[in-house]
Amino acid sequence: MLRLDSVSRHFGEQHVLDGISLTVPDGQLLSVVGPSGCGKSTLLRTIAGLLPVREATVTVDGAPVTGVPERLAVVFQEYGRSLLPWLTVRDNVALPLRRRGLGRAARRAEAETILERVGLHGVARRHPRELSGGMQLGVPPGP
Ligand SMILES: Nc1ncnc2c1ncn2[C@@H]1O[C@H](COP(=O)(O)OP(=O)(O)OP(=O)(O)O)[C@@H](O)[C@H]1O
Ligand SMILES: [Mg+2]
Repeated sequence: MLRLDSVSRHFGEQHVLDGISLTVPDGQLLSVVGPSGCGKSTLLRTIAGLLPVREATVTVDGAPVTGVPERLAVVFQEYGRSLLPWLTVRDNVALPLRRRGLGRAARRAEAETILERVGLHGVARRHPRELSGGMQLGVPPGP
């Protein structure tokens, strides 16, 4: 369960989030909708532990979010900046697996499996600049 309790955030004089409180039970799908610049990405970054909050204002399964929680993933809007251009597609996928304490060979094997699952195994050795925008997001190329 995700819980936000009076989450506020300002950038300088600009108050982007102002006392947001909500509870999302397990299994519920939540969409955050609003005009450009209203703070959706800021809210998601806060939930994901990428922007610091006061202890216990954001909790996942009762645990305060003070960093990126385990089992939580963010697909960034600016995906082009989420991929490291000097790494192959496979090594980009393998990178976060370091957090699981896997060795290099095991990470690469796992990355190959993940790429296979989403239909992108054919581009594992390529670099991000060699992929279409959709492929960079994890969508397999069409027929
Ligand atoms: N790191 C930052 N430093 C200063 N201002 C920021 C920062 N991040 C976001 N902002 C400002 O906060 C406001 C909300 O930005 P945010 O990216 O959360 O909007 P959004 O709702 O995701 O918009 P969009 O629909 O265009 O993606 C904007 O005015 C933006 O300029
Ligand atoms: Mg956004």
